[in-house]
Amino acid sequence: MFPTQFSELFDLPIEKIVNTVGTPTFVVSDRLLHKQITEFLSVTKEFIPEIGVFYSVKTNDYPPLLRKILGYVDGLEVVSEYELILALEKLNVNPDRIILNGPYKNNNEIQMAIDREIYMINIDSLQDARHIEECANRLKKHVRVGIRLNLACSSSWHKFGLVPDGQEFQEILKLIKRSTFLDLRGLHHHGGHFTDGSENIDFLLTSIHKVWNDLLQKGFCPEIIDIGGGFLPYIELSTEGKWIYQENVKNIFREISEFLKINFPGHPKLIIEPGRALVEGAVVVISRVGNVKYDNNKIWVYLDVGTSYVGGQHGGKDRIIFAPLLKQLGVEVPAQEIAFCGPMCYATDVLGVQKFSPFPKEDDITIIGNAGAYTMSLRWHGSQPYPAIVQVNLASEISIHSTRQSVEEIFSFYKVTDVFGNVLP
Ligand SMILES: Cc1ncc(COP(=O)(O)O)c(C=O)c1O
Repeated sequence: MFPTQFSELFDLPIEKIVNTVGTPTFVVSDRLLHKQITEFLSVTKEFIPEIGVFYSVKTNDYPPLLRKILGYVDGLEVVSEYELILALEKLNVNPDRIILNGPYKNNNEIQMAIDREIYMINIDSLQDARHIEECANRLKKHVRVGIRLNLACSSSWHKFGLVPDGQEFQEILKLIKRSTFLDLRGLHHHGGHFTDGSENIDFLLTSIHKVWNDLLQKGFCPEIIDIGGGFLPYIELSTEGKWIYQENVKNIFREISEFLKINFPGHPKLIIEPGRALVEGAVVVISRVGNVKYDNNKIWVYLDVGTSYVGGQHGGKDRIIFAPLLKQLGVEVPAQEIAFCGPMCYATDVLGVQKFSPFPKEDDITIIGNAGAYTMSLRWHGSQPYPAIVQVNLASEISIHSTRQSVEEIFSFYKVTDVFGNVLP
């Protein structure tokens, strides 16, 4: 019924977790993380051994998970002041393992990034370049910068970066040329998804190559090509039973490696900023079935966790896998469509529709797999308490990181004060 990969979900000490902290619970699994990261890195490094891998923190910023990830990758890609402080101050990440991106960088983060001499700051607009330059001048520090390109691969990504033949891009080049402290080292791009074909790797590399040559002609010395993320996992099997995803990733990195060898004789450093490809499968959510309803020719199953914690903007309902567990599994019937819904009163609070057998019954425990990306970091309150969090180490030992949020804890967030900071009743 399930792809064999997901039998591993059942190796987690689910019963123990349910008995200890209840549901819903995020389970961060060291074993699933190790499997996903090592599989991805082995494919990428097979073709480009010297590739730089900077994990995209926004995908899942849970600090204990970040600590583990740092053991596998070269560094972190951060996109906010919070993420920068988290990396530098809370996790003590070496500054030369940090890349700063983002369409809006505030003055604090720019100052901190320059002062601590992080690996690279990617410029997203002319104002961004001006702010970075002003700060570098003030601190008298050299800054390695890249420019984020807008290559119009998919319309939803037009918000970011600069069109290479646009006026603003040329202005930035002039600014960098005049600048004492800004060193243009790289070109950056992040757009759609390579693995599902919505972004074409050949188009991307050809476009970057053109800009790169232009930079060389203008006297710059770029060294780094940063192609962002976009290697999101797919769980389909091909007709021959191979993982389409792994084959896709192989093809992509084979193509990149060949393109670089032929077109970039100076051997630029390739950087990627994967998010989902590293963590999507590393976290699961354990949830309890509340009600089961048969209506409108469909079976509706209501869980105690909904889209506010598991859906996520990019979380991808379709990639969430449901597995029945424990208790009274429903009677064996031919697989039928079940809509798995969250507890909230929003019509959109539907986690996914799956063919499923045997169908769940009230009080069953359900594992929602692939909940590592854009769940813990992209949660919204939705008038629901934050689930408990546990980590399971390689020896299957459980550590409880937090219990399910209480009403008291939610309520204490709303602290009313006067202008002097005195708490008002
Ligand atoms: C600049 C940048 N890099 C990396 C990523 C990670 O993308 P993915 O999860 O597709 O690997 C994102 C995601 O939006 C991004 O905006």
